[in-house]
Amino acid sequence: MPKIKDHLLAPEGEAELEWARLNMPVLAQIRQRFEREKPFSGLTVSVALHLEKKTGVLLETLAAGGARIFAASCNPTTTDDRVAAALSSKMEVFAWAGQSKSEYYSCLNAVLDGRPHIVIDDGCDLINLLHASRRDAIAQVKGACEETTTGVNRLRAMQKAGKLSFPVFAVNDAYSKFLLDNQFGTAQSTVAGIMQATNKLVGGKTVVVAGYGWCGRGIASRMKGLGANVIVVEVDSSFGRKESGLHRALSALYDGFRVMGMDEAAPIGDIFITATGNKNVIDAPHFSKMKDGALLANAGHFNIEINEPALRKMSKKVEKIKENIDAYRLKGGKTIYLLSEGRLVNLARPSGQGHPIEIMDGSFALQALCCELLAKGKRLPAAVHPVPQEIDEEVARLLLKSQGITLPKPTQQQKKYAESFEEGT
Ligand SMILES: NC(=O)c1ccc[n+]([C@@H]2O[C@H](COP(=O)([O-])OP(=O)(O)OC[C@H]3O[C@@H](n4cnc5c(N)ncnc54)[C@H](O)[C@@H]3O)[C@@H](O)[C@H]2O)c1
Repeated sequence: MPKIKDHLLAPEGEAELEWARLNMPVLAQIRQRFEREKPFSGLTVSVALHLEKKTGVLLETLAAGGARIFAASCNPTTTDDRVAAALSSKMEVFAWAGQSKSEYYSCLNAVLDGRPHIVIDDGCDLINLLHASRRDAIAQVKGACEETTTGVNRLRAMQKAGKLSFPVFAVNDAYSKFLLDNQFGTAQSTVAGIMQATNKLVGGKTVVVAGYGWCGRGIASRMKGLGANVIVVEVDSSFGRKESGLHRALSALYDGFRVMGMDEAAPIGDIFITATGNKNVIDAPHFSKMKDGALLANAGHFNIEINEPALRKMSKKVEKIKENIDAYRLKGGKTIYLLSEGRLVNLARPSGQGHPIEIMDGSFALQALCCELLAKGKRLPAAVHPVPQEIDEEVARLLLKSQGITLPKPTQQQKKYAESFEEGT
């Protein structure tokens, strides 16, 4: 089995990594400490993350702390082959862009062959594989960290079914992750990915955003800023959360967006973007109602939000127009364009570059510090755990500091007042 696409790409990958390092001051600070303290000495970390430059800097940070790294991608399309080549001389890398499903799973299996003590996952495919068919590699695992909403949802379902064998930090659910990464990171990189792939104008277009969670609300706000008429699509369900689709629909409405169901939005939209973490959010009846030339993109974790097999079935022909754009020629004569095969439009190579570097400096600082906790042998039950508040706040503090901002502490009097029943007068 090949491990990476091409070793000759390493110098280009090194240049990408250097640019990321220069823009990740929080990880640089953590790396300096790890170099001194070596918290991962003698430990193996197996990783399934989008393998591009920011991830490379996280992996170098863990390696500087003494970890042996085995890295694969969490998605068949998102590896930056240049970065994978540069990293492959420093650690075990099994990743390239454009993998088949079986190649993808053989790479996940290869990183488990490293017998990890700590696992980092994005979407839960690696942790799921470890529990399903690779229990031979589970005994020494101290714990794991999960990067995204979909992965945390799957882990909670595993825990509920009594199937989770070790503790997992829900890095996604830290405030300094979803507030910044899911909202601002996904927004900027999704808009950039669509523009890079299509070179089309957003101003004046009707953009339909499905899902008004952290990702969807960021995308909607950035699209509005570019002059789009934004419609938000939600559903009447809580999916077991406190903040239901109804609450989110209301907050979209009060933020100034039109809100409706997908049935109503389908004939109006020019550009559709899904960010729900759910399945078949855009389906056959919606494709039938869409305008000729409608453009579809997905920012949710898996390529299941747009029902591509149904769209293919409705088409007499599917043509690759250019990199990242496929034209579905429908039997009735309309054309619908799908970006990046319905996979993460902000990450799918070559047009997707992923989140802005500074955003990942925060998200990966959380990952590095949670891995350190696991390495130090913090004993936790086999369950999904929140990121400790001290780590969440420390990362926010360091991110502010990297921008030259230090906030004052409240006075003793203010602290006392905030905790008392004292009257206002
Ligand atoms: N592209 C990226 O880089 C990136 C980054 C972070 C998260 N994600 C992924 O994006 C997805 C969304 O993440 P989030 O943090 O915003 O999740 P979230 O749970 O906060 O929000 C999802 C929203 O979608 C709504 N929804 C569910 N089914 C729907 C349907 N059929 N139609 C319309 N709306 C529906 C829900 O009511 C909810 O409000 C997840 O898959 C997550 O893993 C992607």
